[in-house]
Amino acid sequence: MIIAANWKQYLSPKEENELLLEFGSSLKLHPKQELWIFPSLYSLMCLSKLAKALDMPVTIGAQDIAPTLDGALTGGIRADFIRGELVLIGHSERRKIFHEKITDIKKKLQVSLDANKRVILCVGEKKPISDEEIIEQLQTELDAYKEVIDGRKEQVIIAYEPWWAIGGNKTPTVQTIQKVIKLLHKLGFAQVLYGGSVDPHTIGKIVCPELAGFLIGRASTTMTVLQAILDQLTEM
Ligand code: 13P
Repeated sequence: MIIAANWKQYLSPKEENELLLEFGSSLKLHPKQELWIFPSLYSLMCLSKLAKALDMPVTIGAQDIAPTLDGALTGGIRADFIRGELVLIGHSERRKIFHEKITDIKKKLQVSLDANKRVILCVGEKKPISDEEIIEQLQTELDAYKEVIDGRKEQVIIAYEPWWAIGGNKTPTVQTIQKVIKLLHKLGFAQVLYGGSVDPHTIGKIVCPELAGFLIGRASTTMTVLQAILDQLTEM
C-alpha cells in the first residue's frame, strides 16, 4: 500500500529535514507499505539527496511542475530538470488558488509524462454531489486528458481527493470511494489513491481493498500521527 505524504507548505526547510530524518530513524513501515514524500519545492532537491545518501526506503516527489519546458517562465520548475520520478499534478489547492484549468493540467501531464515521470493526478468534485454526478464529472475530466495519457496509463496514478473533504474531518463514504475506483479501473487506471482528511480517526472508515493507498496532508507532518495511521492499516 502506498502512503503518500503531501507536506504542502506546512513545514520550514529545517523542519522538513528533521522530519525526514525522524521518519528514517523511527517510522515503522509494514513490508507492504511504501512511503512517498512530497516536500515543498524549495526542499525537493535537498531531501532527495539526503534520502539517497542515507539509503532511506522512501521516494521523494515534486508537489507541482511547470506546464512547459520553455525557459522563459519565471518561477517555473521544469519537469525534465527535477530530481526524482514522482510528480503531483492538479491538486485542488493549485486549481482553487492558482486557478489552474484542465488545459494547464493537460500541459503539465504532457511535459511530465514526456520526462518519464510517474504522475499522481488529483481529481475530485468541489462540493458534495450524488455518486452519479461524481462519476460523470470524473469521466468528463479524464476524457479531456485522453490524448495525452493514452498509451502511458501505467505512468499515471489517480488520487481521488474531493475538494470539500480536504483539510477537515469529513470524508466520502467508502461506498462512494469504491464506485470511483471502479470507474477509474474501467478507464484503465490501475492504481487509485484516496486523499482528504485522512487521519487516525477517519482511516478505518475509508480503507477498502481496492485502494492502492492514501495521499495524506496535515496528518503526514507529524511522525506519531502518521505512525498511528500506518499501524491501523497494518492491523486491517
Ligand atoms: P488533508 O489530509 O490535510 O485533508 O489534505 C489532503 C490533501 O490535500 C493531500 O494532497
